[in-house]
Amino acid sequence: MSASSSPRAGAARSPLERLLGSREVVIACGPGGVGKTTTAAAIAATVSVRTAAKVLVLTVDPARRLADALGVAGIGNTASQVPSAAFSAAGVRQKGELWAAMLDTKQSWDALVSRHAPDATTAAQIFANPIYQNITGRFAQSHEYIAMERLYEIHAEGTYDLVVVDTPPTRDALDFLDAPGRMADFFASGLLRWLVAPARSRLVGLASRPFYQVVDRILGTQFLGDVTEFFLLFQSMYDGFVSRAQAVGSLLGDARTTFMLVTTLETVPAVEATRFAAALADRRLHLGLLVVNKVLPASLADPEAVAVAEALQGEPAARARALLAALPGGLAGSSEEMVARVLAEIGRSFASFGLVASRQRELLAEMSAAHEVTATVPHLASDVVDLRGLLAIGRHVLEGSVD
Ligand SMILES: Nc1ncnc2c1ncn2[C@@H]1O[C@H](COP(=O)(O)OP(=O)(O)OP(=O)(O)O)[C@@H](O)[C@H]1O
Ligand SMILES: [Mg+2]
Repeated sequence: MSASSSPRAGAARSPLERLLGSREVVIACGPGGVGKTTTAAAIAATVSVRTAAKVLVLTVDPARRLADALGVAGIGNTASQVPSAAFSAAGVRQKGELWAAMLDTKQSWDALVSRHAPDATTAAQIFANPIYQNITGRFAQSHEYIAMERLYEIHAEGTYDLVVVDTPPTRDALDFLDAPGRMADFFASGLLRWLVAPARSRLVGLASRPFYQVVDRILGTQFLGDVTEFFLLFQSMYDGFVSRAQAVGSLLGDARTTFMLVTTLETVPAVEATRFAAALADRRLHLGLLVVNKVLPASLADPEAVAVAEALQGEPAARARALLAALPGGLAGSSEEMVARVLAEIGRSFASFGLVASRQRELLAEMSAAHEVTATVPHLASDVVDLRGLLAIGRHVLEGSVD
C-alpha cells in the first residue's frame, strides 16, 4: 500500500506517525525484559486510535494480564479484535481497529509443513515423528525463525494496514535477524543432502559404529528409526523451505519494513542495544524507532534535589521536631525518633534513586551520540497491563518525546 492511499497517511502528525504511515511492518526487537511486548502492543493500540488503520499486533508470550487485556489469552495464532468498547472504557475513541494474535510456535510449524508437504499422508507422518516434535519445541532457532515466518505469512495475506510484531526473548537479540538465513542454509546444506542421499543405507551403516551403538543402547532402536524417517520425510520439502526462508529474510530488508529497537538504561541492555543498532546498520535494515524505556525522571538526578535528600539524613532530631509539629492531629503523638527514622530513610532512598537517574542520563547521552534516540518512556509506577497503560506508553513513543 502506498503512503498516499494509506488510511494512516492523512492523519499522521508527528514524524514518527508519518514514518509509520509509510510502513506496513514494524519489528519490535531488543534485549530481554526491556518492554518489547509492551511497546509493540502500545504503538499498535495508539496507531489504531489515531488513524483509520486496521492494525495487528503479533505478540510473543505476553504477561497473563496483558494477554487478557488484549483478548489473546489461549487463542494462539488466530487473530481477534480488541473491542472498540475497551477503548471507550479507557477514555478514547478509536478511528481504526486493533487486532491481536499470539505466536504459537507449534501451530506455525505445522502450518508450514502442511504448506510444503507433497501430500497429506507425508504431512501426517511428519507431525507424528518424535524428532519433528522435538525440533519444533526445542530447536534453538525454531522460535526466532517462526516469528519471522508468521510475520511473512500475515503480511502476504494483506489483511492489515500495519503489522507490529513482537520478538521472542533470545539469548542474543541478533539471533532472529539471522534466523531466516540460517534456516535456509540448514535446509540447503550439503550435509543434510548427504545424510539422506541413500538415506537408509547411510544411517543404517552409521548405526553399526560405536557411537550409534551407544545411542541405540540408551535411546533405543526406535530413535535411529525416527531420525531416518525425519530426514527422509523432510527431503520432500527442502526446496520449498529454502525459498520460503529466503523470502522471509528479504521481508526484513523490505522498504515497507522498519525496526523498533527497545532498550532500558541498565548497563547490559544498553550495551546490547547499541550492538544491535550497529548490526541493523551493517545489514542495511531500517531502524525507524529507538525507544529507551523505563527512564527515571530527570528531576531525580537534579543535584539540588539530591543535596536536599542528603541534608534530610543529617540532624534528624531537629527536623523531626519541626515535622512533628506540622503533622495532622492523629500523628502528633508519634515519637521524634520514629519521625527521624522515616525522614532519614526517605532521604537515603531519594539519594540512591538520584544516583541511578544520573547514571541513566550518562548512558542516554552516550546512546544519543551514537544513534538517534526517537523517544524515551518514563518508568511508570506499576506494570503495564491494560489499554490505558499501553496508550500512555504509545503516546510517548509516537510523539517522540525525549526527556
Ligand atoms: N515504561 C514502563 N514502566 C513500568 N513498567 C513497564 C514499562 N514497560 C514495561 N514494563 C513492565 O516490564 C515488564 C517487562 O515488559 P515486557 O514483557 O514488555 O518486556 P519484554 O522485552 O517483552 O520481555 P521478554 O524479553 O521477556 O519478552 C512487564 O511487567 C511490563 O509491564
Ligand atoms: Mg516479550
